[in-house]
Amino acid sequence: MRSTVIALTAFLVLALATLGCGAPPPPATTAASAPPPGMKAVVNMRTLMNSLIEKQSNIVWEAVGEVHTAEGLVEKQPRTDEEWQNVRDAAVAVTEGANLLLIPPRARDAEWVAATAGLIAEGERMIAAIDRKNTKEVFDVGADIYEACVRCHRQYMPGVRELYR
Ligand code: HEC
Repeated sequence: MRSTVIALTAFLVLALATLGCGAPPPPATTAASAPPPGMKAVVNMRTLMNSLIEKQSNIVWEAVGEVHTAEGLVEKQPRTDEEWQNVRDAAVAVTEGANLLLIPPRARDAEWVAATAGLIAEGERMIAAIDRKNTKEVFDVGADIYEACVRCHRQYMPGVRELYR
């Protein structure tokens, strides 16, 4: 066990030295844990998810689809300019809000960053679909956004992680 650790350390030192072309490795702490000047992660992940990401996503997801009513199935979709604007505002909040997942110490590793980039990309597609007032596209991209959430939860959310083992 100990020899494995030593071998791994030796490999990492070697890798760093090779990558840096002999230059000393940069201090490990600054990049990983210090937020960019002026930025601050204020609440914990759970609150960020509930208060911003999930709340605004729900507005987007509930904007189009079929709703069961006393009269039967009714197609739901934004109709007035104001309704479309509300959905767009929510899509903007999810998409820009995803950037907050990257403020240290929230971002954990490369997969976290990639999962966040995926959510931002789907969010941009959603904003474009809303601008086209294309309800089918809004519905389909909504599913893609959901996939982007799950990609991260599968890896990092306690409980969900265990489900996918
Ligand atoms: C880059 C990673 C990442 C992405 C992307 C992400 N989440 Fe999360 N989410 C987490 C983590 C980590 C937790 C667990 C937080 C905790 O309990 O500490 C979480 C927890 C949650 C929770 C549970 C909060 C609670 O009360 O326990 C909800 C709801 C949620 N996320 C919604 C979403 C939605 C909706 C999306 C997509 C629009 C999304 N998340 C995208 C990382 C992510």
